[in-house]
Amino acid sequence: MKMDTKNIVNLNLKKDQKVLNFSDFQKQSIKFDITKLQEAYNQIIQTKKFDDGGGISHFGAICLTRIPGDPESVKGHKARGLYWTKPDKSGKEVVRDVNIDESAYSEFVPDYENTYFKEVFDVLSSKYKLGRVRILLKEPRSTLSWHRDPEPRLHIPIITNPGCLMVIDNVARHMPADGSVWITNNTKYHNAFNGGEENRIHLVACVLDYKFN
Ligand SMILES: [Fe+2]
Repeated sequence: MKMDTKNIVNLNLKKDQKVLNFSDFQKQSIKFDITKLQEAYNQIIQTKKFDDGGGISHFGAICLTRIPGDPESVKGHKARGLYWTKPDKSGKEVVRDVNIDESAYSEFVPDYENTYFKEVFDVLSSKYKLGRVRILLKEPRSTLSWHRDPEPRLHIPIITNPGCLMVIDNVARHMPADGSVWITNNTKYHNAFNGGEENRIHLVACVLDYKFN
């Protein structure tokens, strides 16, 4: 029988165009207890306020690690850190904020040692070389800038809603708050938005030894 190869090729092309590639969102093989994560979060916000990263709207950070003995290393611009963005119609990339020596953030902040986050930190740091570990707040109906970071990021969603998505390049994904751990390729241009009406809370760690192909 004679094959109509022209039609087969066309079908494959259409199929390829429909398949999304989620390889910049990598779910890890470890999982934590989501109830304990939410309890730990509720525990720390009794006494700690989110830092606004030097005046960033709809954003907040609580650093769980710091430069040993240096309480200033978790405040203001150091709670955010260096990134690149394309802020205007020229499409030209600019660099923002301060450079961070991520590997210096080796000390778990003593105030949180009696929370489940210490256990989570110990497990994560036995598996990955971590930089800053932060609890990040994204307020309702808000977005980050379109930007790229110096290194990949590890995410553990703690509180989320269906309208919370992270976009990397042209691919968007919701990460559920079920104790799962994700590593996302933040070295590509990305964004995260919260289209819901409640805060989005993630534990986010800088990962210094993870390579995306
Ligand atoms: Fe980022």
